[in-house]
Amino acid sequence: MVLSAADKTNVKGVFAKIGGQAEEYGAETLARMFATYPQTKTYFPHFDLSPGSAQVKGHGKKVAAALVEAVNNIDDIAGALSKLSDLHAQKLRVDPVNFKLLGQCFLVVVAIRNPAALTPEAHASLDKFLCAVGTVLTAKYR
Ligand code: HEM
Repeated sequence: MVLSAADKTNVKGVFAKIGGQAEEYGAETLARMFATYPQTKTYFPHFDLSPGSAQVKGHGKKVAAALVEAVNNIDDIAGALSKLSDLHAQKLRVDPVNFKLLGQCFLVVVAIRNPAALTPEAHASLDKFLCAVGTVLTAKYR
């Protein structure tokens, strides 16, 4: 998934608008993913997945931080998320289809919380970015 210069600018622009609310976006993304695609819950049997739980909030914060890290290193997402790629592909073995589900939920959260940010161009670029992150996190299956 190759991001053009315009894609990178668009993605950075969306995250600049999200700003300090990234943690909330992350938690809402996970809550929506678990509610809309309950099969994703199978990876978290050790979590309290009820809406608003401390574990969902805490994990949302981690996921958001990883996305921000990817944005801050948008020319080397694979390098920036290398350890996370090891974790998801080699240890957690999350089925790649689930990354698309998480990405869809993140897009929905952006659309709800900041509709003005999600122009069609920004939507397309954010979708490509989330696909790129998913590709990196599922690149090391063996
Ligand atoms: C753990 C990021 C997608 C399942 C993590 C951690 C981060 C993260 C930062 C914490 C790592 C640590 O504690 O060192 C991401 C990002 C994703 C993504 C950025 C996509 C944009 C997914 C998906 C699933 C998943 C789609 C499954 C549906 C897990 C599980 C853990 C984990 C089970 C371990 C949780 C724990 O026991 O604490 N992920 N993740 N991840 N992720 Fe992901």
